[in-house]
Amino acid sequence: MKTYELTGKGLEHLTLVSREKPIPKKGEVLIRIRAASLNYRDLMIAKGVYRREVCYPLIPLSDGSGEVEAVGEGVSDCKAGDRVMGSFFPFFYDGLVGPETDRRALGGDLDGVLSEYIVLSSESVVKIPAGWSFEEASTLPCAALTAWNALYGAVPLLPGQTVLVLGTGGVSMYATLFARMGGARVIATSRSSGKLLKMKNFGAEEIIDTSRSPDWDASVHEITSGRGVDHVVDVLGGESFNRSLRAVRAGGQVSVIGVLSGTSGLVDTALILGKAIGVRGIYVGNRRQLEEMARALGNGSHRPAIDAVFPFSEVRNAFTALDKGDHFGKIVVRL
Ligand SMILES: NC(=O)c1ccc[n+]([C@@H]2O[C@H](COP(=O)([O-])OP(=O)(O)OC[C@H]3O[C@@H](n4cnc5c(N)ncnc54)[C@H](OP(=O)(O)O)[C@@H]3O)[C@@H](O)[C@H]2O)c1
Repeated sequence: MKTYELTGKGLEHLTLVSREKPIPKKGEVLIRIRAASLNYRDLMIAKGVYRREVCYPLIPLSDGSGEVEAVGEGVSDCKAGDRVMGSFFPFFYDGLVGPETDRRALGGDLDGVLSEYIVLSSESVVKIPAGWSFEEASTLPCAALTAWNALYGAVPLLPGQTVLVLGTGGVSMYATLFARMGGARVIATSRSSGKLLKMKNFGAEEIIDTSRSPDWDASVHEITSGRGVDHVVDVLGGESFNRSLRAVRAGGQVSVIGVLSGTSGLVDTALILGKAIGVRGIYVGNRRQLEEMARALGNGSHRPAIDAVFPFSEVRNAFTALDKGDHFGKIVVRL
């Protein structure tokens, strides 16, 4: 089978190789991967700037979807022909992230999905939503589940509430989709006016161009008549985190997700206590949540925004496109 391997730090170390097609053992399923999608984490891992070291050679990417081709002994919940995706954390079934969770994620510590075939434990495999293409479903395990966990994981979003999403990448696109599904209103920021128009078409009611209004927290207060939003889905972190604390209403929620503005900064703790803000770190989610999300999506007509689909032979171009940052939503590889 054909497989991509990362053999060192840097995209020049991403190569297409041949490996033995795996055979599913007891409790495992063999999946013919049909599509995979890229996340910012995959880019950091490929460039060698991820916060954790990985072991080489590594099959990259956490997110993929495909068909079950064969199952090992004892597997009863999956059969050949099922359309499935793998869970980002294959051994994290329910509950809260623990110290070991981090060390067992696809495309990081464990081999990922950028391969014609992969073998996974049947317990880590979830059926893709009814009516979804493989390309669409390949965007679910990380970006979508992270947004779902943020909005419905601890303090579920209510209809009529307002969600602030930052930038127009995968997590923010899905946060917009889930907020709209739940009857909430979305305020979106971007550094690009073109992408903001796309975000409006996708369902954001209010937009803030941060290249013109860098004080986006002040803009949020103007839009919400000084109240602030109910929930901030913060993919920026670092230096801009205090803006999220200012943009949220008293008693609101801030989900700490991303590191696009850095991994540390001085936090205005007085704002957190003075406004009784709920600050919650999000680390993707567990298998139960992935199933719950897939069920919710299978019942509706909402679909993700896919910016580009690259053939398997052009995976490096897919990474370069993500690195360039001109995308809106997700970048996918078709196998
Ligand atoms: N905690 C978790 O479980 C989890 C899960 C998934 C992702 N993440 C993190 O969340 C972040 C977003 O991930 P993603 O996959 O959605 O990324 P992505 O698809 O690459 O999108 C990132 C978007 O953010 C905006 N952006 C990028 N750099 C920026 C900067 N320096 N300042 C302001 N805006 C910037 C850009 O939108 P505009 O061009 O429109 O401004 C860009 O398209 C990453 O840090 C990623 O590691 C965390």
